[in-house]
Amino acid sequence: MAIIIDGKKTAQEIRAKLKIRVEKLREKGITPGLSVTLVGENAASKVYVSSKDAAAREIGMSSWTHKFPSDVSEIELREHLRCQNSDPAVHGILLQLPLPSHLPEEHLLNLIAAEKDVDGFHPVSLGNLMLGRPGFKPCTPWGVQVLLNRYGISTRGKHVVIVGRSNIVGKPLANLFMQKGEGADATVTVCHSATPDLAQFTRQADIVVAAIGCAEFIRGDMVKDGVVVVDVGINRVEDSSSPKGYRLCGDVHFSSVEPKASAITPVPGGVGPMTIAMLLANTVWSAESKTGISGPIDLF
Ligand SMILES: NC(=O)c1ccc[n+]([C@@H]2O[C@H](COP(=O)([O-])OP(=O)(O)OC[C@H]3O[C@@H](n4cnc5c(N)ncnc54)[C@H](OP(=O)(O)O)[C@@H]3O)[C@@H](O)[C@H]2O)c1
Repeated sequence: MAIIIDGKKTAQEIRAKLKIRVEKLREKGITPGLSVTLVGENAASKVYVSSKDAAAREIGMSSWTHKFPSDVSEIELREHLRCQNSDPAVHGILLQLPLPSHLPEEHLLNLIAAEKDVDGFHPVSLGNLMLGRPGFKPCTPWGVQVLLNRYGISTRGKHVVIVGRSNIVGKPLANLFMQKGEGADATVTVCHSATPDLAQFTRQADIVVAAIGCAEFIRGDMVKDGVVVVDVGINRVEDSSSPKGYRLCGDVHFSSVEPKASAITPVPGGVGPMTIAMLLANTVWSAESKTGISGPIDLF
């Protein structure tokens, strides 16, 4: 039977560690502050934003949610982000995605000051990540790395196959795993929609990471015995037996993959909670760097 990797519990442990660091900062008169900007009425985004806000407050941070209607102009949003950049109480800025189609997502993300880019999406953060330098790491990939490490699953010398090459998950995760050092040193293959015979790659993997956005796409016949499986996907599928009319599932077909796996993350309760914990870690680190405590946070 596979070990079920409990992201909820691990995220809780990380938040407890961060709370202690926040207390130390507050003793020095600094309260780490997270500014979240939400545009429009996307139901999933509203849930994510309120979870981030609650998690930040729970560990003693300040958290502000700035809500804008879906027809907000680009100029107004740019001005708002500039104010957040110059506010000394704000140590981290997050622009919740997706944005309505009239707003240029990438351009607006690039307006966030690199030193407050706690989502880790700014080109400066991604450049530091690629070069193996300290900096903000994108929250979901960093969460995957920390989760494996805390379960004693080494990536050193392992073949990691990542399915998905998005800028927020697949590409940065490949960069994290291919670095030198603890939690990395892997041989990484990145697959995507133009990969022919995907299963020939996933079957060779010691560790498979699914970040595709297709419900239950990775099935038992696509992995080898003893594989470690990390399911990043969050999909809503219709389910008339559920009061909500849907259920959440990942990109991995859990019931056929789990019997072959040595360890696997569930959905929900796997990678998802880690993403928020790493966002808080980036914000605490940002605040600490203002006090001269500038080393990266070690959560392994
Ligand atoms: N747990 C969390 O906190 C968290 C955070 C972020 C995302 N997610 C979830 O993770 C999933 C992926 O998110 P994302 O933002 O990375 O998605 P995305 O931007 O849509 O990227 C999906 C990737 O999967 C690839 N792909 C799609 N269909 C494929 C197929 N049939 N075969 C092989 N590759 C295929 C795409 O290839 P191409 O590049 O060729 O199109 C793309 O690289 C989603 O379910 C999302 O909700 C979860």
